[in-house]
Amino acid sequence: MELNIDATNTKRILVLHGPNLNLLGTREPEIYGSLTLNAINEKLRERAKELGVDEIEFLQSNFEGALVEAIQKARGRYDFIILNAAALTHYSIALRDAIAAVPVPVIEVHLSNIHKREEFRHKSVISPVVLGQICGFGVDSYIAALEIATRKLQRDSK
Ligand code: DQA
Repeated sequence: MELNIDATNTKRILVLHGPNLNLLGTREPEIYGSLTLNAINEKLRERAKELGVDEIEFLQSNFEGALVEAIQKARGRYDFIILNAAALTHYSIALRDAIAAVPVPVIEVHLSNIHKREEFRHKSVISPVVLGQICGFGVDSYIAALEIATRKLQRDSK
């Protein structure tokens, strides 16, 4: 049987994790839960497979510039970015400008509900340039973002 692979229909997703998310599992588990970053990535990989995502890649960095570069390089390479910018969410204009400069849609995610925490976390400087924000559901914030991204890509390819 011939496999009919439609190149316009491929789904490639980049998941970016910002500063200190490499410490998940031991970092303030009462706020961020007990899953490690690897465990979160594994859950995303499994769900991506079920959803028929062709490619899902992960990058965690504690450096703003590395995340800016990853967003710049995503142009033409990925169809969607799922971004937990961590603390950079609240002050990184460089990250915001990178998102605005690149035509790859971004979904902002947070494990915790940033709106019911300290006041300095209520503001996201990236929210105005992303498709939407999902926060407060732990790993399910990421899973929901993946499901929404996939659904959107399916709709847009029709
Ligand atoms: C976070 C929330 C941020 O305020 C914080 O700086 C993080 C993690 C979250 O996933 O809940 O590092 O993005």
